[in-house]
Amino acid sequence: MAGTRITGTGSYLPEKVLTNEDLEGLVDTSDEWITARTGIKQRRIAAPDEATVDLAETAARRALDAAERSPGEIDLIVVATTTPDRVFPSTACLLQGRLGVVGAPAFDVQAVCTGFIYALATAHSFLRTGLARRALVVGAEVLSRILNWEDRSTCVLFGDGSGAVVLEADDTPEHGLLSTHLHADGSQDSLLTVPTGIATGWESGTPEGTIHMRGNEVFRVAVNTLGQVVEETLAANGLEQGEVDWLVPHQANIRIIQATAKKLDLAMDRVVVTVDRHGNTSAASVPLALDEGVRDNRIRPGELVLLEAFGGGFTWGSALLRW
Ligand code: COA
Repeated sequence: MAGTRITGTGSYLPEKVLTNEDLEGLVDTSDEWITARTGIKQRRIAAPDEATVDLAETAARRALDAAERSPGEIDLIVVATTTPDRVFPSTACLLQGRLGVVGAPAFDVQAVCTGFIYALATAHSFLRTGLARRALVVGAEVLSRILNWEDRSTCVLFGDGSGAVVLEADDTPEHGLLSTHLHADGSQDSLLTVPTGIATGWESGTPEGTIHMRGNEVFRVAVNTLGQVVEETLAANGLEQGEVDWLVPHQANIRIIQATAKKLDLAMDRVVVTVDRHGNTSAASVPLALDEGVRDNRIRPGELVLLEAFGGGFTWGSALLRW
């Protein structure tokens, strides 16, 4: 079976910055509380006329440029999103239309904050089995549209953004995706959910159409499951703690990130952290952080990079790659 390798990364953040101080004017909160409990200082908010596909398109074009590929060379598009623009067509199909290409398979993956890891693992499997040669894998979200701006326990946590990679079949042994690990537990859906949908007659703009979370309980599950999945990843690759060069985690909370880094025996200066500036951008957070680490040359060729995420479902997963 063929190997796969990320050949380009890209990302996009909406222009509008919403700071913790701005939120102090909306709900009963403080910069001090948000910073101490989450590490978040600010997040980006999409403009009213910006949709998920707009964010996805910019990140995708930047990733294609970085990979020196044109849209016509892509033969698979997978978009991870929890905030698709429509019930259908999928955001991946909308993106394909924007890119002006037809024919290749395009579909969305819904695994909430683990969506990008699921999408990457899916594309990796397509490429390894010869079903495609060059995939565009995108995570894009406008979570600001499913937040209750009167609920201080959730509205301070999330932000909008997008990230993308080009993943290509590649047999260069010294680079590439080494393993992916995906999990889910559908038995605890009430801890983190948007409780309405087609079955219940979803109305956007109502409190029921927004994120509901029992943060404290979610926190505990996240720390435990991420600890397990990084151990699983090390074991599957015959690695010891301390042998990974970079952790590129989902950016929900700095305390969750610190706990995972500790599991890996990794100093925080080997972790790509964006949560302070982006907040939790769900499926976009891992590719956004990866793009930052690649573009500022922190992540160097030959280094071992561990991507991980945890999210609603619950879902969680990881991917290990040699850059
Ligand atoms: N500003 C000020 N106070 C707030 C607040 C805010 N924005 N949000 C909640 N509080 C209050 C609560 O009402 C509570 O007050 P009480 O003690 O008087 O009842 C107190 O702060 C502590 O709340 P708690 O929920 O126990 O805080 P916490 O330390 O668990 O932090 C989260 C809350 C949400 C930051 C944290 O639980 C978390 O990050 N959870 C995981 C989130 C996550 O990863 N979600 C997505 C998965 S992808």
